[in-house]
Amino acid sequence: MAKSTSTFVCQDCGSVHPKWAGKCEACGAWNTLVEEIVEAAAPKGMKPGGGRRLAFVELDGETTDAPRRVTGIGEFDRVLGGGLVPGSATLIGGDPGIGKSTVLLQVVAGLAGRSKCAYVSGEESVDQVRMRARRLGIASASVGLAAATSVRDIVASLDTTDRPDIIVIDSIQTMYVDALDSAPGTVTQVRASAQELIRVAKKRGVAVLLVGHVTKEGAIAGPRVLEHMVDTVLYFEGERGHQFRILRGVKNRFGPTDEIGVFEMTERGLVEVGNPSALFLSDRQDDVSGACVFAGMEGTRPVLVEIQALVAPSPFGTPRRAVVGWDSNRLAMVTAVLEARCGVSLAGNDVFLNVAGGLRVSEPAADLAVAAALISSLTGVPVPKASVVFGEIGLAAEVRAVTHAEPRLKEAAKLGFSKALLPAARRKGGGPSAGGLELVAISRLHDLVELLHDPGDDAQFGRRAFSG
Ligand code: TYD
Ligand code: MG
Repeated sequence: MAKSTSTFVCQDCGSVHPKWAGKCEACGAWNTLVEEIVEAAAPKGMKPGGGRRLAFVELDGETTDAPRRVTGIGEFDRVLGGGLVPGSATLIGGDPGIGKSTVLLQVVAGLAGRSKCAYVSGEESVDQVRMRARRLGIASASVGLAAATSVRDIVASLDTTDRPDIIVIDSIQTMYVDALDSAPGTVTQVRASAQELIRVAKKRGVAVLLVGHVTKEGAIAGPRVLEHMVDTVLYFEGERGHQFRILRGVKNRFGPTDEIGVFEMTERGLVEVGNPSALFLSDRQDDVSGACVFAGMEGTRPVLVEIQALVAPSPFGTPRRAVVGWDSNRLAMVTAVLEARCGVSLAGNDVFLNVAGGLRVSEPAADLAVAAALISSLTGVPVPKASVVFGEIGLAAEVRAVTHAEPRLKEAAKLGFSKALLPAARRKGGGPSAGGLELVAISRLHDLVELLHDPGDDAQFGRRAFSG
């Protein structure tokens, strides 16, 4: 009989420790180590010989493009890279209650009729899922529904001839392999269940969609180990208070990874948002200081969002820096450049930065927009009316060119903007660009400070008065 030993597995990062400890040495999380029993298989060395020689082929040869199953939900298909690939495994992660079950039920309902779909829920009863389907108005779709948690049963259903083409497992944390002693939801179980499901899915050409819940740190609980087992990883993001939901591809073996899909959560489920910029800018107020519109890119699509800053004298010795929707290290860099190179002192001020609408911006091209919002908040001078801003800031306060300037400008023109503050490096000839926007070239951050300073107020930049 194989000897069983116990190990301690971190439920956040999946690293294995021989002894219990309060803190995981690998990821630094506290109280995440859980004892798991492993059946230690006797290690087998490889005996020499016995292998089969590989038949190497040329890099260039006949291939068949993976045929995709289009879900009909445009934003979902976009993130996948044009539909579901048969035999692929997709992980959909997100906070509990963000809408993973809802979107996947809508996806299988959209595919029903053209493909044979099944939905296995380990979290909700059949009645609960039926009720949801009725509320979403998709109850008539031909989707096989089951409430189950045993991987053995699911595998048996996939190994038959009338198996589904597409199966949703909601969620992987509720599934268990009966050969293991660990409880469902532990790293060992999650990993084994996923491995087993992915194995049959690949063998039988079934597209499997796995739901994975996320811890508050942002990693899929336990199964960060899952990320490399699956072909595609999608994250469902959004602020609880906002109705927008963003589906972001972070790994995709069959398509691009930087695409986002934008949805709105309504009482009839998730509705696609065809023009996210219009939605993100819908509550914007004109002519207030501390706000500016960033012309960003998400994948191949331009997305305009409002960046808001509030700079206010701090009552504390250590001023606060709070960021929502952007990288706080990037903010620290922009404020440092403003301080050191442009004589704009933010020390002694609390700085709050917010990307309105719940979108997470990760592009360096947002630097210039962030700087504009900060300076504008400090001086009280609004950013020029109806203008968009983009550009990357370097440590020497130079404003660097960014990619995709043309689609950014086109989108801005389409939404009624008439001016763009952009890196000088891209401006060719100084004439109006596509869409007829007036272009204001910013070559150094000083130009922006000059543009947004209040000529009547000498003390506006703190310690040192700004001198042109
Ligand atoms: P759900 O899909 O159950 O989230 P997850 O599977 O990610 O845990 O989404 C549940 C939330 O969505 C819940 O807070 C209610 C809301 N919701 C709506 O607003 N409208 C709807 O039509 C549905 C089905 C859910
Ligand atoms: Mg759910």
